[in-house]
Amino acid sequence: MDPATGQPRDTWGSKAAFILAAAGSAIGLGNIWGFPTVAGQNGGAAFLLIYLAAVAFIGAPVMLAELIVGRKTGLNPVGAFKALAPRTAWVFVGGLGVLTGLAILSFYSVIAGWTLSYIFKSAIGTFGPEADTAAIFAEVAGNPIRAIGWHFAFMALTIYVVLGGVRDGIERWTKVLMPVLFVLLAALAVRAVTLSGAAEGLEFYFKPDFSKVNGSVVLAAIGQAFFSLSLGMGAMITYGSYVSKRDDLVSSAAWVTAFDTSIAILAGLIIFPTLFHAGLEPGVGGPGMVFVVLTSLLSSIPPAPWGGIVFGTGFFMLLGIAALTSSVSLLEVPTSWAVDERGWSRKRAALLLGAIAFLLGIPSALANGAVPWLTSLPGVGTDFLSFLFTLFGQYSLVIGALLISLFVGWVWGVQAAGEEVRENDGKFPLGRLWAFLIRFICPIAIMAILLNLVWGLFGA
Ligand code: PHE
Repeated sequence: MDPATGQPRDTWGSKAAFILAAAGSAIGLGNIWGFPTVAGQNGGAAFLLIYLAAVAFIGAPVMLAELIVGRKTGLNPVGAFKALAPRTAWVFVGGLGVLTGLAILSFYSVIAGWTLSYIFKSAIGTFGPEADTAAIFAEVAGNPIRAIGWHFAFMALTIYVVLGGVRDGIERWTKVLMPVLFVLLAALAVRAVTLSGAAEGLEFYFKPDFSKVNGSVVLAAIGQAFFSLSLGMGAMITYGSYVSKRDDLVSSAAWVTAFDTSIAILAGLIIFPTLFHAGLEPGVGGPGMVFVVLTSLLSSIPPAPWGGIVFGTGFFMLLGIAALTSSVSLLEVPTSWAVDERGWSRKRAALLLGAIAFLLGIPSALANGAVPWLTSLPGVGTDFLSFLFTLFGQYSLVIGALLISLFVGWVWGVQAAGEEVRENDGKFPLGRLWAFLIRFICPIAIMAILLNLVWGLFGA
């Protein structure tokens, strides 16, 4: 029941609709902007391998665990923990998720705002073959009024979709546009790998150099996997809460994971060859790297200038939409909390919480040139946006996922979880493997890596 309206809780229209919406949440800037950025900073191919292992053995089981908790309780993350473990401290895991959602949304909307501005810039032919794409990025991100203005515009779009609710808002948008994005990315990858100098980029991406691997690389891979799959903050608990008891959770989790991972791999296939083609170093350039590299690739598409204009405009529109279906899930978590737990109307919750995320995002909008000390934080060395990304987009999600796997594996229990999975047809394929992964592999791997890091901090 929706306490505000007395109506039964909204559900997805079909299993396919749910898979697309969850894939819409997962696929976003994390794949196309985050993955190449983090992979570039962490050595390329070795990172890719660790990332794939993290997705298969840690990400996928946690995804299923979150969906189970969501569907079982039909509630937001705070309500879900309250329902399954009344009067315990576990409710804080849900609370951490709600806060993390707002924090991620704050900087996510800033990056997505750059994407919106790039739609218009591409359409008017700003990125001609001679354009200095680095200087243009510096302009877009460094102008305070424009950066905040586009951040505002994107947040307004996010609020608009969330106001529409589950079926008419979120579901309608994702259905058509995700497949189109995939086709366009594949076309760009073909273009990128045929550039001169692409071979070096492919080598960086596919030929592992394990001497570069250390604890922080593994943590970055695990953190990136959670960010990309929208795990660790209850987004999948929330989306799972709208799944009907008739649908199959295991195959849904598998599809979402597979879609998300293939888009990230494809993004790497686009970025690294282009980077080497342009003679640039991977790992430098910060949050703007992907924008600079992509626009130079897009503008090289013949015939000049129309190829660049058509592909550029189309690409940034789709990226904007992919970002929107993710930001919507970020706002949906706090919104469903306010609706379920506080009895707010959906309208009040989405507007107020969206406004808070907008205000929180202003320092991130000023952190790429507009305000020097935010651009290079004293004592930290990176810009404020990257700092928030590390703190909330990586650490907080890793800790959240650790607690969720401990909760489902040991507190609520794999037995009860298995019963929920079997609700639809009595089957739980790979159930024993999942139970083993969620009880042992997920928590041990995450704890080991956190300890390694703490050790490194004190050892150094
Ligand atoms: N998965 C989204 C992306 O890759 C970001 C996200 C993280 C969304 C966490 C929801 C929760 O862009």
